[in-house]
Amino acid sequence: MCGIFAYLNYCVPRTRKEIFETLVKGLQRLEYRGYDSAGIAVDGDKNTTTDGINNNNIVLIKKNGKVKALDEELYKKDCMDLEMELDTHFGMAHTRWATHGEPSALNSHPHRSDKNNEFVVIHNGIITNYKELKKYLNSKGYEFESETDTEVIPKLIKYVYDNREREDLSFSTLVERVIQQLEGAFALMFKSSHFPREAVATRRGSPLLIGVRSKYELSAEHIPIQYNTAPYYSVLRDCAVNPVVPEGQRAAEPISMFKEGVQEKNSHNRPDIANAVNFAEDGKAVEYYFASDASAIIEHTNKVIYLEDDDIAAVVGGKLSLHRLNRLAGEVPVRAIQTLQMELQEIMKGNFEAFMQKEIFEQPESVFNTMRGRICFDTNKVILGGLKDHLKEIKRCRRLIMIGCGTSFHAAVATRQALEELTELPVMVELASDFLDRNTPVFRDDVCFYISQSGETADTLMALRYCKDRGALTVGVTNTVGSSISRDTDCGVHINAGPEIGVASTKAYTSQFVALIMFGLMMSEDRISLQTRRLEIINGLRILPELIKKVLTLDKNIKSIADELYEQRSLLVMGRGFNYATCLEGALKIKEIPYMHSEGILAGELKHGPLALIDKHMPVIMIIMRDACYTKCQNALQQVTARSGRPIILCCQDDPEVSKNAYKTIELPQTVDCLQGILSVIPLQLLSFHLAVLRGYDVDCPRSLAKSVTVE
Ligand code: F6R
Repeated sequence: MCGIFAYLNYCVPRTRKEIFETLVKGLQRLEYRGYDSAGIAVDGDKNTTTDGINNNNIVLIKKNGKVKALDEELYKKDCMDLEMELDTHFGMAHTRWATHGEPSALNSHPHRSDKNNEFVVIHNGIITNYKELKKYLNSKGYEFESETDTEVIPKLIKYVYDNREREDLSFSTLVERVIQQLEGAFALMFKSSHFPREAVATRRGSPLLIGVRSKYELSAEHIPIQYNTAPYYSVLRDCAVNPVVPEGQRAAEPISMFKEGVQEKNSHNRPDIANAVNFAEDGKAVEYYFASDASAIIEHTNKVIYLEDDDIAAVVGGKLSLHRLNRLAGEVPVRAIQTLQMELQEIMKGNFEAFMQKEIFEQPESVFNTMRGRICFDTNKVILGGLKDHLKEIKRCRRLIMIGCGTSFHAAVATRQALEELTELPVMVELASDFLDRNTPVFRDDVCFYISQSGETADTLMALRYCKDRGALTVGVTNTVGSSISRDTDCGVHINAGPEIGVASTKAYTSQFVALIMFGLMMSEDRISLQTRRLEIINGLRILPELIKKVLTLDKNIKSIADELYEQRSLLVMGRGFNYATCLEGALKIKEIPYMHSEGILAGELKHGPLALIDKHMPVIMIIMRDACYTKCQNALQQVTARSGRPIILCCQDDPEVSKNAYKTIELPQTVDCLQGILSVIPLQLLSFHLAVLRGYDVDCPRSLAKSVTVE
C-alpha cells in the first residue's frame, strides 16, 4: 500500500537540493501505491533542528497529504543549506496509505527510535504482532508517539542496540535480529546516526528492489548471498519465554543456518560473482536506489536486483552485500542483476490528462503486446512459453481454479465460459479473500491460476501459498516481471501490458482477458472437434487491436453521455453471458473513480429483485450483443422499458431491433462472442474517466484506494 524510495550516493557529490529532488521524484513515481502522507529522512547540517525535533544528524520531514505537499515543505526549512554538497549520503523517503492510525504527519513515515533519531525506518506492509512488541517495549520504558504498527521497528532496533553489551554488532546484524521478531509483511529500510552513510534494506512479503548505477560496467551477473554464521538467540533475552509471540502462534525458532558450517562455499570462490558485489571497489563512484517497484528506478538505471523474502541488503563504504535470515530448501545462493526492459516514456503521461486515460488509449498496443510472438496466425499455433513445459500436467488436472481480486477477478469471470469450452475442464472462479475465508478444499491434482496486475496483492499471494501447501500446480498471470506472484508460482504468463500507473486497472484487464483466452487456445490445439472454434477465435484476436481502435473513436459520444449522467447518484449496468463480466467491471470503474454508486447486474437475475429499482429516474446501461443471449437480453430490455426505464444500450452496429427501444445507443463493432467483452468494457472505462473529470475528482488518485494492495 505504501511506497518506499531511498537513494545512496557514494563518492558522487550531490547538493542537498539534488538529493531532495531525487527523493521526491522517486516518491512521485510511487504515489499510485498510496498517498495520504509522505516523509523523508536525510542527514542534517550540524545543529539542525526541525519542528522541535532535536537530532544529531538525521532530519525527518513529514507532511500530511500528497507528495507535492512534502516537496513544498522541504524548501521551507531554511535551517538546511540546500547548496551544501554531500559527497556520500543516504536519504530515504516514503509515501503512506494508512492502515494503522489516521493519515497525519505523526503517523507518516519515517518512524524513529527516539527524539534523537538514532534509528529511523520506513515500512511497507503490516506487522501483525506489533501489539505484543509494543507492550514489551513499553515495559522497557520506550515511549511511542504514533498509532502505527511500524513504530515498534525503530524502537526494537534501538532496544537491541542498547542491549548489545560488548558485542560489536554491524547495522545489518541489528536488523537481522529485529526481523527475527517480526510477524506479518514488510519491506523495510533503515538509517541510523550510529552508522552514518550506511543503508540496510530487507523484505518479507512486500516488494523491494535495488537499482545500481556504477562507474563499472555491470558485466557480472550475480551477487553472492552471505550467510550469517553467528549463533541465533532471541533479542528479547531477558524474558523467560519469548513474550512477543501470542499464545497459540508459532514462536520464532532458532534457525539452523545460523549454526556453524553452513556458509555457502562456491559463491565466494567464483571470481565473477565475487567481483560483482563490489561496485565501489577502490572508492569509485556508485549510486544505489531502493524502491517498492521499478517505475521509481528506471530513470536512473536499468540494472536492478530483486530482493527475496528474508534477504538483508546492506551498503557499507559504498559496497553492497546481501545476507539471508533463513535458507530455503533448494535455494540458489545468488541474486541476479537484471536488466529492466521498461522505458521511462512508458511510465510518463504523455499528452493525456491522466494515466488512466492514457492506458485506456494504449489498449490496441497493449493487447497486441500480450499476443506478440505467442500466436502464429499462419499455423494457428499458440505458444505461451512459460506454460508449455507444464501443459501435460495441466491437461490431466481435476479442475482449474482462477483466483484474483477486483478487476483481475473480473478477467477470470470474463473468460470462464471460453475456458470451459476450450479446455473441457471444470473452471472455478474465486475472489482470493473469500477463497481463503472458506478454507476451500484444494487437491494435488488441481491447477490454480493467480491473476494479478501487480503480482503483489496480499490476498492473492496468500491464496497462492495456501494452494502450494496443498500440492496444487500454481500458475501466475501477472503484469509485473519479478513480482512475488510471478516468482512464487510454478509457471506462468506475463501479460506484457506495460506498466499500469493509473489506480483503476484498464489495459491490464484486457490483456489478462487475452492471455487467458490464449491459454484456452493452447490447451485445445489437439482437439479436432474444437478446430473451427479455435480458428474463429484466433481470427478474432488477429483483428482485435484494429477493433479496439474503432471503439476508442467513440470517445466523444461517451463524453456526451457522461455530460448527461454525471450528476446522478446511481448507475446500473446490466447484461448476461459473455458480457456479464463487463457489467461487474464497468460498475467497479464507475464506483472507484467518479465515486458514483453502481451495480453490475446479471440480466437473468432482473426478475429476482433488481427490477424493483427500475423507473424513469434510474440510469441504466444495458449490454445487448448478437450472441447466444441476444433474445434473453431483449426480454430484459422489454421489462426495463415496460417500467418506463430509459436504457442506454451498448449493442452491435446496425441493430435496429435494439436501437428502437433505446434511450441512447453506443454501437460497437461485432467480434467473436467470447472476445466481445474486450470491446464492450472500453466504453465503460471511458465513461468512468469522463464522469470523474466532470465531478471534479483526481482520476489517478481515487480516495482510499491504492494501486498495489499489499495488505489483507
Ligand atoms: C480496480 C483495481 C483493483 C485491482 C485489485 C487487484 O480498478 O485495480 O480492483 O484489480 O486490487 O490487483 P492486482 O491485479 O494487482 O492483483
